[in-house]
Amino acid sequence: MNTPRQELEARVSQAVQKLFSPVPPAPYVRPCPDSRHGDFQTNAALVGAKEAKANPRELAAKLAEVINLEGVAETPEIAGPGFLNFRLKPEYLARQVTQRWTDDRLGIPRVSNPETLVIDYSGPNIAKEMHVGHLRSTILGDALARMYCFLGHTVIADNHIGDWGTGFGMILFGYKREGDAAKLEQDPFGHLEAIYRKIQEEAKTDDSVREAAKRELVLLQQGDAGNRKLWEQFNKYSLEALDRIYQRLGVQFDYTLGESFYNDALPGVVDDLLKKGIARDSEGAVAIFSEGKLPQKDDPFLVSDKDGFRDNPLLVRKSDGGYNYATTDLATIRYRHEHFKAKRSIYVVGGPQQMHFRQLFDAARRWDYAGMKLEHVWFGTILGENRKPFKSREGDNVKLKALLAEAEERAGTIIAEKRPDLEEHKRAALARIIGLGALKYADLAQNRNLDYVFSWEKLLAFDGNTAPYLQNAYVRTRSIFRKAGEQTVADIFHKIRGLVDLDPATPSIHLAEPAELALARKLLDFADSIVMAAEEYRPHYLCLYLFELATLFHRFWENCPVLTAEEPIRNSRLVLCDLTGRTLAQGLNLLGIEVVEQM
Ligand code: ARG
Repeated sequence: MNTPRQELEARVSQAVQKLFSPVPPAPYVRPCPDSRHGDFQTNAALVGAKEAKANPRELAAKLAEVINLEGVAETPEIAGPGFLNFRLKPEYLARQVTQRWTDDRLGIPRVSNPETLVIDYSGPNIAKEMHVGHLRSTILGDALARMYCFLGHTVIADNHIGDWGTGFGMILFGYKREGDAAKLEQDPFGHLEAIYRKIQEEAKTDDSVREAAKRELVLLQQGDAGNRKLWEQFNKYSLEALDRIYQRLGVQFDYTLGESFYNDALPGVVDDLLKKGIARDSEGAVAIFSEGKLPQKDDPFLVSDKDGFRDNPLLVRKSDGGYNYATTDLATIRYRHEHFKAKRSIYVVGGPQQMHFRQLFDAARRWDYAGMKLEHVWFGTILGENRKPFKSREGDNVKLKALLAEAEERAGTIIAEKRPDLEEHKRAALARIIGLGALKYADLAQNRNLDYVFSWEKLLAFDGNTAPYLQNAYVRTRSIFRKAGEQTVADIFHKIRGLVDLDPATPSIHLAEPAELALARKLLDFADSIVMAAEEYRPHYLCLYLFELATLFHRFWENCPVLTAEEPIRNSRLVLCDLTGRTLAQGLNLLGIEVVEQM
C-alpha cells in the first residue's frame, strides 16, 4: 500500500521524466510546511528551471498540466517562485483509510529486502544492580527491536552483559578477603557492591590492591577453578535479578551472550590480528594503530593536543596477558557474522563510548568485516532537576528497581484520585501499565542524542506528549463502541466491516468535515513514521506522530458527533475511531507500551 507521499512521488516523477532534461534528482514531493496551502508540495519545477535556465513559474504550470493526479489530488496550485501545492481528494483519503482499516497490519508493508540484524542493548555490568543509566539502552533497544521485527527483518536481540571485566577482579579479591556466603545469599547485590566499592576505593591509593585485583581477574580469565566457581555464583544471582527487571519491563532477549562467552576466542582473535598485520606489539601489549589513510582529524586512532596529533591505539591485549573490552567486541563481531550470518549490528550504548565504537568499527573493517554494517546508536544522559546526572537524594545512582516501583506508585496515586470507584486490583493493574508506560515514553519521546531532565510531573501528565495522553486517547476510541450499546466490541467491528462497501474502486466511507479530513490524512502517515524511526534509529519520530494523531483525534471528537450522526456518516466516523485506536495501540506496542480499555 503506497503512502500518499509515495503515490504523489510516483506521479510527479512520471511527469518530471517526460518534461525535464536533465532530470532533477528525486525525491520531488515533501509535506507542505503549512497545511493551509496544501498537503504536499514539489519544488521540481524550481530545480528543473535552474538547470534548463527557464522560467520556473511557467515550468510549474506545464508540470501541473502533465501530472496525472486522477483519483488522488485536486488540480495543483502554483505558489511562490514555482512550487506546486497538492491537496488530497476526500475520496482518495476515504479509500485509503478503508484499505488500512481492513488490513491487520494497518497498511504497513513488510520490507522487500529483509535482513538479519543483531541489536545489542541493555548490556549491564553484572554483580551490580541495574540503575537508571541502563534504562535508556534497554528501552531504546527494545523499541528498535520491535520496529525492525514488525517491518519484517530477522532481529536477534542480544544482551552483551559485562560479566568478565576489571570489576570482577576487585570483587573476587575483596570477596576472598571478607566475603560472607550467608550475606551473599541474602542480599547478593548489597553485599557484592559494598565489597566492590571498598576495594575500588582502596585501589585508588594502594597499588598492591590494584595489582592483586588484576591478578584475580587474570586467574579467572585463564580458567582458575576456584575463581570460576565464585564467579558462577555471583553470576547466577545477578542474572536472576536482571531477569526480574526485564520481565517487569516486558523486555525480551533472544540471547544473553555476555563478555565471558567469548573468553576462549580471545587469544585466536589477537593472533589473527597480528598475523594479518592489523595489530602490533606495543611495549609488551598488543594494539591497533592508525593506518594513516584517513584525514588526521577523522582518524579514530589519532588524538590531537597542543603539540599536534599523536597515537590513540586500541588495546587488544594488555602487557599482563589480560584482554580488553575491545578484544571481546571484536570476537563478538566475528561470532555474529559467522554464527548468526548477521549483515548488520546495532549497538545501543551511551554517548561516552563513541570513541570506542569508532575504533572498533574501523578495526573490524580492516579485519574481515568490511561487509557488515555496524552502527553505534548512542544516547545522552538522564539529568535530575539540577541538570546534573540523575541521582538519588543520597547522591547514589538511582536503582532501576526503585525507579519502576516509584513510577507505579505515583501512577497509582493519580488513578486512585481519578477512579475511586475501581476495585483495588484493577487500579493496581492500571498503575503498572500507566506508570511504566509513562516512564518508557518519556525516554523514547526525546531525541536520543540529547540529555533530558527527568520529571515525574511531566511524564505522568495526562496532557502533552506523554504516554497517559496517548493511552487516554485510545480509551476514548474504545469507549465509543461501548456507548454504541452493542454487545461486544467485536460485534460492532464486524457490523461496520459488513456495512462498509469494501470495493476498492469506490470510496467506501464518507469524509467531509475539516476535522475528520485532517484525522484521516494523519492516519495515512503511520507507515512513514515507523520507517523513519527505524531507519534513523530514532523512536521519537514515532512518538511525535502518535502525539499528533491523538491531538487530531481529540479535535475530531470535539467537532464531529459520532453516535448521533446519520448514516453513512455515523459508520464512517466509527471507522475513523476504530482505525485511530488500532493505530495508537500498534504504535505504542512498537514502543513497548501497553494500552488499557478504561482509565
Ligand atoms: N557493558 C557495557 C557497559 O556497561 C555495555 C556493553 C555494550 N555492548 C557492547 N557490545 N560493547 O558499558
